[in-house]
Amino acid sequence: MGLYHPVSIGPLTIPGNLFLAPVAGYSDRAFRSVCIEPRVGEQGADFTCTEMVSSEALIRNGVRTELMLPRAENEARYAVQLFGADPDVMYRAALLLAPWRPEAVDINCGCPVPKVVKTGAGSALMRSPERLGHIVEAVVKASKETLGDVPVTVKLRSGWDAASLNYRECGRIAVEAGAALVGLHPRTRSQGYAGKSDWSRISDMASRLAVPVAGSGDLFSPEDAEKMLRETGCAAVMFARGALGNPFIFSATRALLKGEAWQGPTPRERLETAFRQLILLSRDMGESPACKEMRKQFCAYTKGISGGAALRNRLIHADTIERYRSILATQPDFFLERQDDGEYTEY
Ligand SMILES: Cc1cc2nc3c(=O)[nH]c(=O)nc-3n(C[C@H](O)[C@H](O)[C@H](O)COP(=O)(O)O)c2cc1C
Repeated sequence: MGLYHPVSIGPLTIPGNLFLAPVAGYSDRAFRSVCIEPRVGEQGADFTCTEMVSSEALIRNGVRTELMLPRAENEARYAVQLFGADPDVMYRAALLLAPWRPEAVDINCGCPVPKVVKTGAGSALMRSPERLGHIVEAVVKASKETLGDVPVTVKLRSGWDAASLNYRECGRIAVEAGAALVGLHPRTRSQGYAGKSDWSRISDMASRLAVPVAGSGDLFSPEDAEKMLRETGCAAVMFARGALGNPFIFSATRALLKGEAWQGPTPRERLETAFRQLILLSRDMGESPACKEMRKQFCAYTKGISGGAALRNRLIHADTIERYRSILATQPDFFLERQDDGEYTEY
């Protein structure tokens, strides 16, 4: 089998092994949508996941939380990621996912943010492996009851800190409790995002578990992904920071793994993709919040573009779609024009 191949997550088959990782504040459905889009004949991401969604907020009927749940129009399969510390709350939250019909539910066991870990959720779950197991069981039960028995997956770190590297134990317990895939970002909670992730732990996990392991950590180029797949034996790779402002990384990686030629995006294509993301986001959250939200994304998209710094300086003040368009229109080759129906098309 080549390095690019389908992945079976319980009864679910994903046609390829290039996943978009959950990235809070970025992987909303507008971004997921542009990550999935095909580019010059190559499909984008094979599998996507929502940002982490609070189980507590969900059962309290959080309207803002509900906005995080729908799939994108071109999202044939996706997972919803839940976080929480209480098995019963996680069970009730998972039951509420039924209207969205996700193909999988992922449990966040890696978030290092103080606000999350102080509630016992995210990476704090790795300090209580038994509770982690109960949470997986609870979500599996909810899945059987209302979600059509879709697979439940977990996303782990290496452990809480260097003195408690217990990813093996947590992985084993999660699988015994019914997890059908284990994602591993091999940094400890104490490391945050500093230093290098230790991929040898991904190999270790992949060699021990009977379910597929998805590797995460420092995937910034197609070559990084190829190296992780080859060196660790993980079933899939999950791009996170490497996909921000660069949703083309999926098709680029697929071409590399299949030994096919690939042409990188032109500056025009980068800007037009970012602009398309802005339009999609504004449909979901309204124009003004979307314009604000997209500033950081445009910063990522314009990295490396000639004149990018000057462009960024102007874009950070853009507060309407039309303003974005008029700033982008000063760039060579940016051809998007607003039509009478409010759509933007090339001319
Ligand atoms: C800003 C940011 C937000 C993140 N949000 C989530 C999240 O909601 N759920 C999750 O499981 N991991 C989250 N992660 C972790 C990533 O999914 C990934 O495991 C990590 O960034 C390592 O991959 P990378 O080095 O290729 O970025 C986040 C990471 C970043 C940088």
